[in-house]
Amino acid sequence: MGRRGRLAHDMTSGTTLFTRRAAIAALASSAAVATAPKSVLAAGLGTGRTDSLGAIAAEKGVVFGASFAVHETAKPQGARYAQLYAREVRSITSELELKMSSLRPAEHILSFDAADGLFDFAATHALAVRGHTLVWNDDVPPWIKALSTKEAGYLMDAHIEAVLERYRGRAAVWDVVNEPIAPWDNRPDNLRAGPFLAAYGIDYIARSFERARRFEPNAKLVLNEAFTETADERGETYRRTLLSILKRLKDQAAPVDAVGLQCHLSSRHPYDFPRFAAFLHEIAALGFEIHLTELDVDDSAFPRLASARDARVAALYRDFLTAALSNTAVTSVTTWQLADHTSWMHYRAVSANADATTAPRPLPFDADFNRKPAWMAIANAFRAMPPR
Ligand code: XIL
Repeated sequence: MGRRGRLAHDMTSGTTLFTRRAAIAALASSAAVATAPKSVLAAGLGTGRTDSLGAIAAEKGVVFGASFAVHETAKPQGARYAQLYAREVRSITSELELKMSSLRPAEHILSFDAADGLFDFAATHALAVRGHTLVWNDDVPPWIKALSTKEAGYLMDAHIEAVLERYRGRAAVWDVVNEPIAPWDNRPDNLRAGPFLAAYGIDYIARSFERARRFEPNAKLVLNEAFTETADERGETYRRTLLSILKRLKDQAAPVDAVGLQCHLSSRHPYDFPRFAAFLHEIAALGFEIHLTELDVDDSAFPRLASARDARVAALYRDFLTAALSNTAVTSVTTWQLADHTSWMHYRAVSANADATTAPRPLPFDADFNRKPAWMAIANAFRAMPPR
């Protein structure tokens, strides 16, 4: 059998099998929510929940969430990690579990185990799921890079179908296409190069959304992008290119519900929040909702002293959110993890230098799961915003 034939075969049998299993899993998890003893639900809906970022945002009609990593729940602090999420957020984004590299590490493997764990956690605690992400030219395992252009196009289509068939009705939101822009790939259109762009040209984006809508009629479908926040040349390029992609998608009547802006803020870049707010107005004027999808603060250029760093991080959250939340098109805010020691910045820094005094402090909770000034800054920004 040729490679295309093998892929088709794997995909067909995998999809059939997984569809049945997904139906059973969906039934099982909804039954679990309906019949769970009070003590289990209390972990998600207890009194602490009214004094949480999730509850404070919900009062204004905004969904607050955070990225979640299933592997963190298996660590010694795993139970506390789970409790923090159950109390603090209303939605979780899969940080790793639904990426193509996790689901398809090798040609004949389609592994849903970790993703199933994330959906089950969300069901147990009545949390919404943001599925991240279906099509991303940067997260491509080596075996996919070795496919022909035609095979890669086929895989993109089959992947969207397989994942959405399995989880249909279980995610409130999907990041359908992630990070379509990469100016450093040196294309005149600033698009990120990769197998799916090579297969279909720029219309891999519209095609992904059309296909996602076909297999998941009810979720919000999001185009997610990085680096639009800064007041420098890179930020300008990203904003200009993203707006032109969005105009094209609108002209094509592609089923894009919302634009996701990652918002990985940094102590190393300049900001001009009125300029950013004007960009949000341009997106809203095109008719899209806006989700802030991966908010955190790289504090590496702030003072070493933790209290001083925390104050600078909190001020950046405050200034950024005050500007962004003034636009009523912004309907959700997601931080990238909740506690400093589970941030991708922590893992990156520790692998470079294990010195705890300079460990990053990018998030609203510290490594003991205690609130930091950033928590208060985020809460106050929600309290001060106009309701949705
Ligand atoms: C990151 C995760 O946080 C890391 O753990 C992983 O090693 C690499 O991916 N933009 C995105 C996210 O859309 O998927 C990335 O997540 C962070 C940047």
